[in-house]
Amino acid sequence: MVHVDNALAGRISSAGLTSSAAVRAAGGLAGLAAAGLFYSTVVERNAFTLRHSTLSVLEPGAAPLRVLHISDLHMTPHQHLKQAWVSELEALEPDLVINTGDNLAHPQAVPAVIQSLGGLLSRPGMFVFGSNDYFGPRLKNPFQYFRSDHTRTFGDPLPWQDLRAAFIERGWLDATHTVRELEVSGVRVVAAGVDDPHIERDRYETIAGRPNPLAHLRLGLTHSPEPRVLDRFADDGYDLVMAGHTHGGQLCLPFFGALVTNCELDRSRVKGVSSWGSAMKLHVSAGLGTSPYAPARFCCRPEASLLTLTPVSNGDAEFDEDHSLPQLASEIG
Ligand SMILES: [Fe+2]
Repeated sequence: MVHVDNALAGRISSAGLTSSAAVRAAGGLAGLAAAGLFYSTVVERNAFTLRHSTLSVLEPGAAPLRVLHISDLHMTPHQHLKQAWVSELEALEPDLVINTGDNLAHPQAVPAVIQSLGGLLSRPGMFVFGSNDYFGPRLKNPFQYFRSDHTRTFGDPLPWQDLRAAFIERGWLDATHTVRELEVSGVRVVAAGVDDPHIERDRYETIAGRPNPLAHLRLGLTHSPEPRVLDRFADDGYDLVMAGHTHGGQLCLPFFGALVTNCELDRSRVKGVSSWGSAMKLHVSAGLGTSPYAPARFCCRPEASLLTLTPVSNGDAEFDEDHSLPQLASEIG
């Protein structure tokens, strides 16, 4: 009898140890998940950074051109940290500002976008819009981003006409389905853009053809870097296409990178500089925001990019620098 009781007690003791280990493991996992959630939604989502790149895309003999690339603000009226950080970018004094869309995430966000951009709107600038300038955010199944054939649902209309009017009133050029020619800091630029290919609003035929060969820079703009559009720009002889939309993958894995690009672009080009075809460069911005329904970033900080464009003979360089708000202020102050 005693022998049986000891065996039973052993099993009970062993089961108790096992269950307490399981509880500790579950608690550890829950703590890790909570820490990850806090980090990605509070810390990294607001860890704005300025990325510097040098691209050799200008005709020989042209002066270097400093281009500030802003994309995917997804602004809401109360995102004061982001608004403060963006307002500091004005002090960089870029020669040209390019905005590749998805500015809005709230019907009352137009004033916040305009106030944040501030003096940048008084500098030469061009823009194209993305789906999140036209339609408000909606709650989506996150797993749909792994499927290219998912059906799209659109949110409520956003006041993109007000945003467009404000940009144009301050002097920026809408490059949507238009070929623009301008001279910036002595550099002759031909630029053309398409409406957002992600929601099939692109009409490349409206800008098709070889751009002015006398230009120092032939620049294409699109919100979503869809390969079918990049191929058209490359075939027409453009030097550089600038795009946003991918959010750099938004949730990335260490040593692996982005899981998805949210378009037909391959993962290796999800952000930064890459080549497209034999003679064209592509620059994709990881953007500064997220949908309010997916407010998290991991291994993919929100960014603006300062591109220094140089003549083709000079070679490329790309490097990241972390600039939280105070660091940025001290650098440019
Ligand atoms: Fe976006």
